[in-house]
Amino acid sequence: MPTTDMTIEDNVLLRLYAGHSALFAFTTSENITRYLEKLLNTIPGVIQSDVSLIETTTPSDQIIVSKFIGNINLKQGKFNLDDFEQLCASLEKKDIQVYPVRTADVFYGIIALKVSDSEKFQIFDPVVNTFAISVSIILENKFQKNMLEESNKILSQHKQHLSDIVQAQTISLNKANKEIQSRLDKTVEAVALITEQRDPYTAGHQFRVATLAETMAQRLGLSPEQTHEVYLGALIHDIGKIQVPAEILISPIKLTKLEFEFIKTHPEAGYKIAQSVPFNKTISDILLHHHERLDGSGYPHGLTDKEILFTTKIVSVADVFEAMSSHRPYRPKRSLEETLDELTSGAGKRYDLSVVECCIYLITKEGFKLPVQPYFNMT
Ligand SMILES: [Fe+2]
Repeated sequence: MPTTDMTIEDNVLLRLYAGHSALFAFTTSENITRYLEKLLNTIPGVIQSDVSLIETTTPSDQIIVSKFIGNINLKQGKFNLDDFEQLCASLEKKDIQVYPVRTADVFYGIIALKVSDSEKFQIFDPVVNTFAISVSIILENKFQKNMLEESNKILSQHKQHLSDIVQAQTISLNKANKEIQSRLDKTVEAVALITEQRDPYTAGHQFRVATLAETMAQRLGLSPEQTHEVYLGALIHDIGKIQVPAEILISPIKLTKLEFEFIKTHPEAGYKIAQSVPFNKTISDILLHHHERLDGSGYPHGLTDKEILFTTKIVSVADVFEAMSSHRPYRPKRSLEETLDELTSGAGKRYDLSVVECCIYLITKEGFKLPVQPYFNMT
């Protein structure tokens, strides 16, 4: 606090220091006006002070109280510049020293001082002017804060609106995808049925292979999407046989070398047919490579282990198991023991070891049975 021993300059410096320290500490405080008033009362010649901060857009603050003129009516958020100037003029009429501050027509501030000793009081007292600037900064900050809050509110409304649109579009897309997938499934089943009606001796072969391959894919940990692709690929894996003469397909005697060469064209023929449909790589690879073997002894390309997709390896094992378990025009069906022997002896050589193990486990431990007719429900 100033003392009588202090010079005017010391007094000013002391009050400025105290004022700045307080402003830093109390800028965000609701009690800033009360604190400022205490500091203003230390100005020589001042007996009473009043700091009024008016926010014109706050409907809840309809009235504020001024020590010198009583209630200030904010006119339900319609307090404007004319009202502010009238207020300042009415204070001046009462011999009150007024320091008006204003920001963006939204906030007004009035520093009002009642002076008892006009000789001691300096109208351009540096402390008062510094506080007036500080009050205007406080008002500016409040204005910017309000603007930011309003912008954030609008942004969050936009964000919610966009989120609602995206959610609606996602639901619509998922529905459309399910519809497309369902139509593709029915188309694939129809194609499989047409192929098999031409070749009654292998009727149901593709469906039974697909059922076993799908079960193995699930057990081997493939995703639901990949498992379904394995099922679809297996369901039409022999579609290329449509280009093989029917007499060869239903021949009751062992095929000649030339006839077998004809049979061996079906993977590439099937792959070419599938090119006209937007199948993904998993499905088209099953059509082309289901007769490939790990040791390179398969056809049509003599691929080896790492060149063959795992999903295709699953269908290969299911194909061998089903073919050996079924009757053919040129040979009776093989016993379960013979079939499992073929898979066991070829595991890790011609067939993928983990797929063979999975197949044998399903058949011998879990009692998996290949399905019987009717194969498709085309309703
Ligand atoms: Fe085949």
